[in-house]
Amino acid sequence: MTANPSWWQSAIVYQIYPWSFQDSNGDGIGDIPGIISRLDYLNDGTLNSLGIDTIWLSPIYPSPMEDFGYDVADYCNVDPRFGTLDDFDRLIHEARRRGIKIIMDLVLNHTSDQHPWFQHARASRSAPERAWYYWADGKGFGRRPSNWNARFGGSSWTWDASSRQYYLHSFLPGQPDLNWSNQDLQAKMFDVVRFWLNRGVQGFRLDAINWLGKDVRWPDNPVRFGWRGYTRQIHRYDRDQPLAHEVMRKLRSVVSSYRDVVLIGEASADTVGGPAAFYGNGSDELHTVFDFRLLKSLWRADRFRDVISAAERAVPSGGWPSIVLSNHDQSRHIDRYGNGGNAGQRARAAAVLLFALRGTPFLYYGEEIGMRNGRLRYRDLRDPYTKRFWPFRIGRDPARTPMQWDGSPLSGFTTGQPWLPVSGDALTVNVEEESKNPLSILSLYRHLIRLRKETPALRQGAYTALESSNRHCLAFVRTGEGSAASGRDILVAVNFDSHASNCSLAGPERTGRLRLSTQLPIVDRQPWSSNRFVLQPDEAIIVSLA
Ligand code: GLC
Repeated sequence: MTANPSWWQSAIVYQIYPWSFQDSNGDGIGDIPGIISRLDYLNDGTLNSLGIDTIWLSPIYPSPMEDFGYDVADYCNVDPRFGTLDDFDRLIHEARRRGIKIIMDLVLNHTSDQHPWFQHARASRSAPERAWYYWADGKGFGRRPSNWNARFGGSSWTWDASSRQYYLHSFLPGQPDLNWSNQDLQAKMFDVVRFWLNRGVQGFRLDAINWLGKDVRWPDNPVRFGWRGYTRQIHRYDRDQPLAHEVMRKLRSVVSSYRDVVLIGEASADTVGGPAAFYGNGSDELHTVFDFRLLKSLWRADRFRDVISAAERAVPSGGWPSIVLSNHDQSRHIDRYGNGGNAGQRARAAAVLLFALRGTPFLYYGEEIGMRNGRLRYRDLRDPYTKRFWPFRIGRDPARTPMQWDGSPLSGFTTGQPWLPVSGDALTVNVEEESKNPLSILSLYRHLIRLRKETPALRQGAYTALESSNRHCLAFVRTGEGSAASGRDILVAVNFDSHASNCSLAGPERTGRLRLSTQLPIVDRQPWSSNRFVLQPDEAIIVSLA
């Protein structure tokens, strides 16, 4: 067991994509007053609400919205589409009243090209801000400084005609990369961190951190086989440089003068040493780091078992895992794992894993009601990345459609024209309908959250994989402490097959009481035994061991 866990180790984090959660003024775009009006849904202190206790807010900063907020034009304000700083303060206050903490998204690698820093930088080569970004001359005859390709397509270099040099951008041309070796930039950005901490936020989700720092001799990246420019390179020089770790250590020391702040890292899955490299020595970089291997895995017991063990091994002592199955950059996991007919059952089993694995669970808005990827036409698309690779990749817009609150034509999200279409299934897949149904996926999420909160072994217990005679069955124990009812070991078993499986476990018989099955009405505490049990297709169970 993890002794004296920090709040964020026991937290249940809900990611809100501000564009899509709740519109309050009829402009078709979600906003902060909208979020406030839905806080009771997230946690009203009773068993009727979802029960989450932390919100991660995707960017709300002023932005031209080329990358929907991940292109920041002012780090210390709120985009008028979403409201005002006063609205934000009210959000902090109203959330706190309900026991909910707010985590901000912080984009460190780049700003928008509309940010005054970049405007100054490009206006004059002698402006102090010039050195806050990366500039380079071409190699002659129109050749760019290096062969580097941007994550969202095209070269990473864009020619700036007014100052007659190229600038670097790892994502869109409208997202120039910041030069973190510059001390003034560092100081400025750490002021931003303090600005939000002083307003009462409790931590940051740090965007794309493995991109901080470049090899400024601009060597060409080695090439390899891949399906598009970006994946046809080994990113040896444009990412994953030691500077990123230096910055994380400084950031950790900045936040350590505040009480109980959490730093959550997003790094690419193929970062050298894995994203877990950003734990540093376990106490000098980030508190927790996303590991996207589960998210990228096929729905197969052996794959999940391997990824879970690898993730367990990767986190150094002092570090803490995060469990994430969906977010705003990926196809929703109900569709990713589901692959057709049994999507609903798999999403239920996945929910058990989300709350029963060791680590802080991150829910993406709408997954708790089984929201699917929106079926969008090309003309509905908004995200440049989604458009660029359409229809070869599903892209990101389908996972960003408006939250489905009720069965009305605009699903209760807006009274205006929604920025992305409301999904066709909103008539039945919505909060209002599912709240009435004890067998809905929403009821399952509520139950799982409650169970996790009242069960120390689920929150803090160690993870031990168990052997099953059946290759479709994944089973593990979370080890509790003591003999108090709430401190018992918890066994979890999941059948990844779309047929019923005899999942009996090897070794001595274990007995206990069934606390939850994804396929039964919630029948608490039925007797259960480990050497003769069958799981239905894609069924998952949670058992309190005797
Ligand atoms: C991160 C964000 C993604 C964004 C990118 C560039 O991966 O999650 O939405 O487009 O960084 O900021």
